[in-house]
Amino acid sequence: MTSIKIGKLNIKYHYFPSPLAGLTDLPFRRLLDSIGYAGALFTEMISVEGLIRKNPQTLLMIKNFKSDTPKFVQLFGSNPETFKKAVRYINEETDFDGIDLNAGCPVKKVVNKGAGAYLLKDLSKFKEIIRAIRSTTDKAFTVKIRLGFNSVNVFEIAKIVEGEGVDAIIVHFRTKKDGYSKPARWEFAKPLKEKLNIPLIGNGDLFSVETAKEKLKIVDGIMIGRGIVINPSFFKEIETGKREREDIIIKKFIEYMEDFYPEEKWLPRLKAFLRYFSKGKGIPKQRKNELFISKDYSFVKQNAIEIFSNICKDMKL
Ligand SMILES: Cc1cc2nc3c(=O)[nH]c(=O)nc-3n(C[C@H](O)[C@H](O)[C@H](O)COP(=O)(O)O)c2cc1C
Repeated sequence: MTSIKIGKLNIKYHYFPSPLAGLTDLPFRRLLDSIGYAGALFTEMISVEGLIRKNPQTLLMIKNFKSDTPKFVQLFGSNPETFKKAVRYINEETDFDGIDLNAGCPVKKVVNKGAGAYLLKDLSKFKEIIRAIRSTTDKAFTVKIRLGFNSVNVFEIAKIVEGEGVDAIIVHFRTKKDGYSKPARWEFAKPLKEKLNIPLIGNGDLFSVETAKEKLKIVDGIMIGRGIVINPSFFKEIETGKREREDIIIKKFIEYMEDFYPEEKWLPRLKAFLRYFSKGKGIPKQRKNELFISKDYSFVKQNAIEIFSNICKDMKL
């Protein structure tokens, strides 16, 4: 496969882990990077307001680590001037290779403030924000959208995005209204791809290697959210047919997580990861419940390591 060109970046792999609030923090991104095969890594959504106020929590969320994989920061907000300031900060104070604009977050608190998916129904504001970012950086610039707000208007939105000089578009194939109840509407991928001159990265409901490979025939790249936390070696599996050992994954995650956070964060962070990582692996419900109910970090850590070591033994990995 040839590389994908996104702005100045030549991206080797066509698979991208989604930005996921509360999950794609630095330890998780390090984990993915150590497994390999991600085209680029994305932070969780970062508030431009928080960034320009140098909110300590926000600054922690944009901490980076060194590796060859291109790294994007995902920004959300509603004020073009604030975006400009935030992008200047990213340009001057960080080593991110790209900026992604969140125009898909459906959370009420975000939408009511004129950010996230709100932008899909206020296209003049959306355009202003894109212009503010584009005029402030020559870093790779992507926009992550949904099919629309209440109804599908992805063709109009995508044309605006392309016309404003954005380098690639990421589409979660659902409207804001769809929520997660219905399957992602991949039937829009082909007609959209035919109308675009910039790379199209498709997203939504990709959980198996077979489906992922099928979709890669239609779009330039795929973005995987929940599926990459459930199976952090998803991309490796697509490329090589092999999975990383689950016990190695959990141990690495714990090491990176303990390295990054103060001790009081360890328990909630490990549980957040385990909520997805433990899915679909045949772990008895009661065993899982014990982990999620426990307030004892050492208990959860030891049991998680044991559970995933046993899975590997059973699978003779
Ligand atoms: C827990 C969670 C957090 C998310 N946080 C973000 C986010 O910060 N930024 C974003 O653009 N999308 C976010 N999303 C949406 C995902 O990036 C993705 O578009 C969506 O889950 C569909 O992909 P999937 O079916 O592969 O999970 C989040 C989704 C979940 C489940």
